[in-house]
Amino acid sequence: MANAAELTVDGKSYSFPTLEGSEHEKAFDISSLRDQTGYVTLDRGYKNTGATKSAITFLNGEEGILRYRGYSIEDLAAKASFLEVAYLLIYGELPTQEQFSEFENAIRRHTLVNEGMRKMLEGFPINAHPMSVLASLVSGMSAFYPDSYEGTTDTSDRDIIRLMAKLPTIATWSYKRSQGHPINYPQNNLDYIQNFLHMMFALPVEDYTVDPVIAEALNILLILHADHEQNCSTSTVRLVGSSQANLYSSISAGISALWGPLHGGANQEVIEMLEEIKAGGGDVAKYVDMAKNAKTTGFRLFGFGHRVYKNFDPRAKIIKKAADDVLSKLGVNDPVLEIAKGLEEAALNDEYFISRKLYPNVDFYSGIIYRALGIPTNMFTVMFAIGRLPGWIAQWKEMRETKEPIGRPRQIYVGSELREFVPMENR
Ligand code: SDX
Repeated sequence: MANAAELTVDGKSYSFPTLEGSEHEKAFDISSLRDQTGYVTLDRGYKNTGATKSAITFLNGEEGILRYRGYSIEDLAAKASFLEVAYLLIYGELPTQEQFSEFENAIRRHTLVNEGMRKMLEGFPINAHPMSVLASLVSGMSAFYPDSYEGTTDTSDRDIIRLMAKLPTIATWSYKRSQGHPINYPQNNLDYIQNFLHMMFALPVEDYTVDPVIAEALNILLILHADHEQNCSTSTVRLVGSSQANLYSSISAGISALWGPLHGGANQEVIEMLEEIKAGGGDVAKYVDMAKNAKTTGFRLFGFGHRVYKNFDPRAKIIKKAADDVLSKLGVNDPVLEIAKGLEEAALNDEYFISRKLYPNVDFYSGIIYRALGIPTNMFTVMFAIGRLPGWIAQWKEMRETKEPIGRPRQIYVGSELREFVPMENR
């Protein structure tokens, strides 16, 4: 067996095939491990476990490389539109003009949301976190589109268009309701990002014109968030979809996973942390010390560290540069940007962070730009979800097309051995 991995246990030797990806990542194929040896592996948090083979996104954590379908994130952020990148992720190739026009026009024609979903929205408390609204209404979409789970015809292309088209509408509706403002219906004469901004910020009392600086900044941010291989929320989407659950239910589960403060929810935590540092006088050293004593303080430096990147998150580099650029173009002077830079400087020169290879991640600077664009803090993770939607869809589609088996991990049981039942009167 070429390049087999040899394992010796309980005095016996076993061979397992190895495989190498197109970017030379290597793996042991342990599909026959339990049948051959009676052993399973244990890998908490799947830090060393590949869940699948995928052709969508490539990360190199040591070198800080991120590519979607082979194209560098730097190139895509500088040269592509978000919908172009969405098409690339979902269908595997950059679209021709004809393919792009068909994709974009289909999305424009599906931005309207069933009025019954507006009634669902009105059932939420006015201060509901928009991530809970988003997860619920996306799950509810399967009720409005039962063909997504009934019958044998594959409706996934139509469901893909519906999701891409309606997520911004649902997201902005939950924001407008929380402000006590009338919701804005989508306008088919606007492009994807213009439509989002119009639904988000237009008021019936005056005309609303999209600021091209804001639209361009949003385009870059959505592209940077579009996919990130087998992260927590994407793995959730794939696992739920592997049971043949419909696309809406799978994406809704991904939205819930993304909400966690250790994952996409970190962008909201970062701004709240920076605001706390500012309110306390800007003493970044104090917060670096608190993070270094995490075991006693329980404090983490949100926006720092990453499971894969042990170098700069390439997205953080692009966002940091864009933050300076966007804020100066908009004439916004946000003191937390300087606090963020000071915190980064202090952490990157501290042995605790250096030894653990903790660098700023995608969430560290993104909130500063969102805020400058007028987006409220509790909508930051919603913005992450709108950006990540094409990646989730692409990964779900790949999982289905490659006919992945239902995901069902094993465990090591450490509970009680067999016990006799004791009637309640004798306990
Ligand atoms: C995202 O996976 C993806 O690709 C995610 C994402 C995507 O695009 O989908 O990139 C988006 O989720 C970015 C990460 C956003 N989260 C945060 O910013 C929250 C703060 N960061 C962490 O909680 C942490 O770094 C994680 C969750 C991101 C990664 O955790 P790991 O890989 O499980 O690392 P770990 O918790 O085992 O930490 C290793 C060490 C520990 O110290 P020791 O036990 O060795 O002494 O580093 C320490 C941790 O205490 N550490 C931190 C820290 N992050 C890790 N210490 C202080 N502050 C931090 N932020």
